[in-house]
Amino acid sequence: MTAHAQLGRRRSMVYRARTPLLLGTIAAVCVTTIAALAGTADAATTLGASAAEHGRYFGTALSTAHLGDSAYTTIAGREFNQVTPENEMKWDATEPSQNSFSFGQADQIVNFATSHNMRIRGHALAWHSQQPGWVSGLSGTALRNAMLNHVTTVASHYRGKIFTWDVVNEAFADGGSGARRDSNLQRTGNDWIEAAFRAARAADSGAKLCYNDYNIDNWGDAKTQAVANLIRDFKARGVPIDCVGLQSHFTGGSNYPAGYRTTLSNFAALGVDVQITELDITNANATAYGNVVNDCYAVSRCNGITVWGVRDSDSWRSGENPLLFDGGGNKKAAYTSVLNALNAGGGGNPPPSTTTQPGGGSCTATIVAGTVFGDRYNTTINVSGTNTWIVTVTITAPQKISTTWNISATWDSTGNIMTARPNGSGNSFGFTTMFNGNSTARPRATCRVG
Ligand code: XIL
Repeated sequence: MTAHAQLGRRRSMVYRARTPLLLGTIAAVCVTTIAALAGTADAATTLGASAAEHGRYFGTALSTAHLGDSAYTTIAGREFNQVTPENEMKWDATEPSQNSFSFGQADQIVNFATSHNMRIRGHALAWHSQQPGWVSGLSGTALRNAMLNHVTTVASHYRGKIFTWDVVNEAFADGGSGARRDSNLQRTGNDWIEAAFRAARAADSGAKLCYNDYNIDNWGDAKTQAVANLIRDFKARGVPIDCVGLQSHFTGGSNYPAGYRTTLSNFAALGVDVQITELDITNANATAYGNVVNDCYAVSRCNGITVWGVRDSDSWRSGENPLLFDGGGNKKAAYTSVLNALNAGGGGNPPPSTTTQPGGGSCTATIVAGTVFGDRYNTTINVSGTNTWIVTVTITAPQKISTTWNISATWDSTGNIMTARPNGSGNSFGFTTMFNGNSTARPRATCRVG
């Protein structure tokens, strides 16, 4: 079974419909009913494990330059379940002189990945950049044949070990033209991309074959449409293509766009898988990182996410601190945001709904899912509309609330219904709930004006 075939949605999110709970005859009562979200049965504490629970992968680029650094390898081995060699499988690294192949560097990454049960994205077979010097002496048929020989030899060498190949990288021009990028490969004829994909399929029929590029995050952009048209054309003519890779370097003036989820979804609708292949975000905005995960999870054909390096100090854009770990190997806020989003499984938080009762007055209680541990989970509730609220929280037995903060709490005789009132700490409070054997149920809350 290929690594890809192991992908599969093993868990699904469940929304529960709730009946509004009307509380007594108090005047100006407002009841808000929250649909509670059932989380995963065993929320994970690492990125890769969490992604795997949802049938996805979460990976990183690795570089042999850092494989001797135990801080680096410790994080890589612990957190990720997919690896992309940052430079080691590129043309200049694997074929430094014509038809003389060198796989030593790439094999180091492959061996690390294999020994840590991580799947491997191959990157990249045909690209205008990072070519060995001898290629510049070739053109026309000689260059075309050299490129095809390279694709065939490298893909054959790693046959069975690579779950996805970036067959062609960055073949389209930036800007509004929608044209191919001018390059030595392009000048061998417009069919060079198709020829590369056919050669890759012939060499390793088990690998998914991706077209990979940057600045294809906005669906309406000419470059994005050009890639979409390539995929449509390949599908129509039976040219092998299985996926599109969005590099997603949200940095240096190319920001994470609001329509990103639409783009992922529209690519998937063309009949290909979607992979986020080189994610980094200038200054690692935590909300943006979490939203990228949510966007991927919202599209069932989005297989996984790869961040382009482990620590900020390892990044190709280290000056922008764009990754999930700082130079000391500490988890950044973006890490927590990503892990929470992975654990939430794309369900996000349930939207609040408000029912205003005759007599006026209203308040809204919004449940925000918090960190999930092995035996317990945290919940935050934000109240709006009044400062004199009474929020009733109902827990499903055998779960039990063990700790609360920022409220004064009383309990009914079953211990499952908690009545929370302000204790002077504001309108946001929280609590920890022990699973006690039920790790899927989540609290419901109603709010009334006190
Ligand atoms: C970058 C590497 O991170 C650098 O170490 C190297 O010097 C240049 O290439 N798009 C790609 C990646 O597809 O291969 C690039 O990686 C970043 C942009």
